[in-house]
Amino acid sequence: MDELNVKILGIESSCDDTCAAVLSGTTLLSNVVAGQQVHRDYGGVVPELASRAHQQNIVPVVDIALKKAGIKREEIDAVALTRGPGLMGSLLVGISFAKALSLGLNKPLIEVNHMQAHILSHFIQTPGEAYAPPSFPFLCLTVSGGHTQIVLVRDYFDMEVLGETLDDAAGEAFDKAAKILTLPYPGGPLIDAMADAGNPSAFSFPIPNVQGLNFSFSGLKTSFLYLIRDGKINAPDFVKTHIHDLCASFQHRIVSILVDKITKASEQTGVKQIAIAGGVAANSGLRKALQESANKYDWKIYIPKMQYCTDNAAMIAITGYFKFLRKEFAEYDLVPKARFEFSSSRIKE
Ligand code: KG4
Ligand code: ZN
Repeated sequence: MDELNVKILGIESSCDDTCAAVLSGTTLLSNVVAGQQVHRDYGGVVPELASRAHQQNIVPVVDIALKKAGIKREEIDAVALTRGPGLMGSLLVGISFAKALSLGLNKPLIEVNHMQAHILSHFIQTPGEAYAPPSFPFLCLTVSGGHTQIVLVRDYFDMEVLGETLDDAAGEAFDKAAKILTLPYPGGPLIDAMADAGNPSAFSFPIPNVQGLNFSFSGLKTSFLYLIRDGKINAPDFVKTHIHDLCASFQHRIVSILVDKITKASEQTGVKQIAIAGGVAANSGLRKALQESANKYDWKIYIPKMQYCTDNAAMIAITGYFKFLRKEFAEYDLVPKARFEFSSSRIKE
């Protein structure tokens, strides 16, 4: 079989997006994401509602992905699925569907770690665009609603977590701040948009005192809450009148924490190829700050296209593709893993 023609269907349902994508080799043929509006008013994802919405969306999303790719089910060479980490009920929907499809088509099943997939999203080739993935080794700052990690990537499946958050994830901090501002979920993109017209030095937030390459964001959320509580005492319209400055200052602090740690990681490892991944990689402040550091420290940086930053199945399919080449197939008795860590060379069971 010609490696470039291997067709992988990826399925992703770990949180609140129902996603399916098809790749031919490393090239993207389709990438479909169905978001879930149902969580908007809750300030976060409601697991029970998420799994029900996945159940409704999964069949049409996969059908559309195949249609857009211009291929029939029978032409798929393997089905790749997200095994974890994520919400149990959500993962179960994608996994059960993938197992059924794989059995029905008599094509292999491939399990994928969602966090590794975020990193390997850098290897997706978009048709008509230049293909310049990172070479090994590189550092990846994976920042999403559930995770904040600095990973040393030595090879496709040889990754080492050098640091991670001890409490909230960076995206979670954005979302919690947005909730305090009574903005709908997910608040990260809204804070980003409003920060654009604000002054990042208007308010100052403490820098968490965390050793090494680990992170902590929960204290930041608390100081944001107190700033607003105190501000409202003298000015009931405090949030309304300062919304842009509040967003810009909060974003500035999160970005400076992230960039500071990735700079330390680069110094410690000597690696100057820096990638970012995950939903928060869509943040314009982070992208800009990273570019500035790249100029300052002579880094080569890799910032994924927006569609590969937030949760998507193209990243599951590309990871599945590299496993397909290694003939790493899954068993049908596999179960979801809500927590799914990876160590230096292998995924930890
Ligand atoms: O990777 P992702 O889609 O899902 C998880 O695996 O968590 O990341 C979603 C997170 C949410 O917390 C969302 O608020 C955040 O990414 N996010 C952003 C931006 N776009 C998405 N945060 C800051 N600025 C953005 N532009
Ligand atoms: Zn994610």
